[in-house]
Amino acid sequence: MTLKRTMTLLLAGAAVTLSASVAMAQTNLRVFVSSQHRPDVWRKAFDMYEAKNANVKVMIETGGNTSEQQAQYLNTVMTAKDSSLDIMILDVIRPAQYAAAGWTVPFNDVLGSDAASAMKRYLPAYAEANTVDGKVVALPAFADAMFLYYRKDLLEKHGIQPPQTWDELAAAAKKVADAEKDPNLQGLSFQGKAIEGAVCTFLLPYWSMGKQLVSDGKLSFDKEAAVKSLKLWKDFVDQGVAKKNIAEVATDDTRKEFQAGNVLFAVNWSYAWGQFQGAESAVKNKVGVVKLPAVQGGQPASCLGGWEWGVSAYSNNKTEAQKFVQYLSSPEISEFMAINAALLPQFPEVYTDADVTKAVPWFANAKPVVETAKARPVTPRYNEVSEIIRTTVNGVLAGQSTPEEGATQMEGRLRRVLR
Ligand code: GLC
Repeated sequence: MTLKRTMTLLLAGAAVTLSASVAMAQTNLRVFVSSQHRPDVWRKAFDMYEAKNANVKVMIETGGNTSEQQAQYLNTVMTAKDSSLDIMILDVIRPAQYAAAGWTVPFNDVLGSDAASAMKRYLPAYAEANTVDGKVVALPAFADAMFLYYRKDLLEKHGIQPPQTWDELAAAAKKVADAEKDPNLQGLSFQGKAIEGAVCTFLLPYWSMGKQLVSDGKLSFDKEAAVKSLKLWKDFVDQGVAKKNIAEVATDDTRKEFQAGNVLFAVNWSYAWGQFQGAESAVKNKVGVVKLPAVQGGQPASCLGGWEWGVSAYSNNKTEAQKFVQYLSSPEISEFMAINAALLPQFPEVYTDADVTKAVPWFANAKPVVETAKARPVTPRYNEVSEIIRTTVNGVLAGQSTPEEGATQMEGRLRRVLR
């Protein structure tokens, strides 16, 4: 055989092998991302992965503007054992529940023998939320907690410090309202709609009074604290600090109204900050953010939020999907999402990274809030617990029941679920 012919054969062979391997290894991953949490920026993180992994194509799917709408959608997909979705972002309250339903696959194989030490890199609350009976059932996407946003310009104008108690907040709101006489300016916006976020609405003052809802898996309901919590929110409405139809307000409504310049104080999750700084925001550079106020004589408390990446048990690409999730749940991507989408890091060291502190200086103050935020009750019957709390909060705010009646109903119903 001549040298030329040998070379031609070798080259042809190489080309066949190459194209065969490309064709064989092409993986399409479909990822569900919550529409509230910057799918546009996640897309960029996905593109970076595709650039390094030519054989992987990632498709994004979004939907539902609230945690429950998303859960409803994912429940349908999972119940149908639909293999078209490979990866899904899950609210921190759901990984344990999805694992129990057999809807996700554990990461222990890809994490190797020492999965526990891999999880130690994350903030402890997230390692905990994603580990069930020693199995890592999802990997943290980003952290979250609730904060008090305020109009820096208006507080400065009226010589008011950010409030440390709810009473101070009410007084500040009244002072600004009297001086500004702006009928479109609400004193306080919070979540009164019967959504997942309203569970936190109830728990914030309740926790602030030092009370727990569940301890050792059992209900530890403090009726008096529950009445006070419901009354605190209802009083804001009755005093005109919050608007009359607060029972219709969901998380993103609070965000939009504040962003339009119509709210002085807002209780909201961390995602709102990045949106307030956006080009189309009426309050850009006019926003302050601090830890939430406490009840008089109590401690400030925040609700632990956050989102986690789970791999579907019905995916046909589980191994590729898990590799991709490991990349997404890395300090590099956490840093990228902090800088470009203002999503809070799930890794402690990212909060103090120089590029992150430059892009989002308030993260330095956010870290202790996330670290001390309290988790909603962990129970396999969380869906029922959530439904009981959020419908009660909503009923009280809509004027259908008094805080006393609400607390009594809540206790009775919770007792049937959490014996
Ligand atoms: C935020 C939190 C999430 C919470 C939800 C409630 O997205 O991260 O944990 O359940 O808000 O609306």
